[in-house]
Amino acid sequence: MTDRMSGKSGIVTGGARGIGRELAAAFAAAGARVAIWDTDGDAARQAATEVGAGAIADTVDVTDENGVGAAVETVLGAFGQIDFLINNAGIRHVAPIAEEPIDAWRRTIDVNVNGTFICSKAVIPAMVAAGGGHIVNLASMAGQLALRERAAYNTSKAAIVGLTKSIAVEVGDAGVYCNAVAPGVIETPLSAPYFEDESMVKVLRENSPMGRWGQVDEISGPVLFLCSEESSFVNGVTLFVDGGWTAGKGY
Ligand SMILES: NC(=O)c1ccc[n+]([C@@H]2O[C@H](COP(=O)([O-])OP(=O)(O)OC[C@H]3O[C@@H](n4cnc5c(N)ncnc54)[C@H](O)[C@@H]3O)[C@@H](O)[C@H]2O)c1
Repeated sequence: MTDRMSGKSGIVTGGARGIGRELAAAFAAAGARVAIWDTDGDAARQAATEVGAGAIADTVDVTDENGVGAAVETVLGAFGQIDFLINNAGIRHVAPIAEEPIDAWRRTIDVNVNGTFICSKAVIPAMVAAGGGHIVNLASMAGQLALRERAAYNTSKAAIVGLTKSIAVEVGDAGVYCNAVAPGVIETPLSAPYFEDESMVKVLRENSPMGRWGQVDEISGPVLFLCSEESSFVNGVTLFVDGGWTAGKGY
């Protein structure tokens, strides 16, 4: 990693494990000071210690607007500025539509969509006051190609694409960028059940043009790119990082 984030600071939500944990490490390795937010505060603090480079941690539920507001103040107090926000916290519930409990539907939309909105809303004033900033939202290929028995998740990720464009359109002229990264299947605790199911592993290999799923460190490069000068005219896009899965079918 280079030091291209040197002097920058910001937040990774859901940064205690999986993709978020790797993103926090990648930003720290690139020279940034990172605040790791997660509902699992102990794991977030552990991650911050391991990530180093002055990383801090806070127990934050991204759906709690008051809690997010207080956590933003803590980050501003510690770092003085918020150059980037990575809206990574996300959940998924698997059930056929007819059997989906309404509470599971609501919680999925709440964390994935409302949480992204609440955190973005909370940092935008500081970013605008500072002359700009970068927001990157974790969408999913499931927002484009609906996956069976994941209706709430698919819907939430499609909504994130719309929210990403809305933020870019509204605050782009204040120097605030908002883009999304849409991963394909990435090996994390969230996706772990896939890899325990042989028939699913076969589906994953056959549907991926690259014949494999991705690793967490394959998401950090694209997210760093979207928070850097290298993407200075990229705003409102969703970058698919899926090994070509959504590019088409091979037959
Ligand atoms: N793993 C994949 O294959 C994959 C594919 C596409 C998109 N994504 C997206 O990437 C993001 C990260 O996925 P992952 O696989 O690393 O997930 P993960 O389950 O391994 O980690 C998610 C983290 O978010 C935290 N979290 C959950 N709800 C929260 C809340 N309300 N407030 C704060 N933190 C909360 C969890 O405690 C956990 O630490 C998610 O948005 C997910 O939808 C993942």
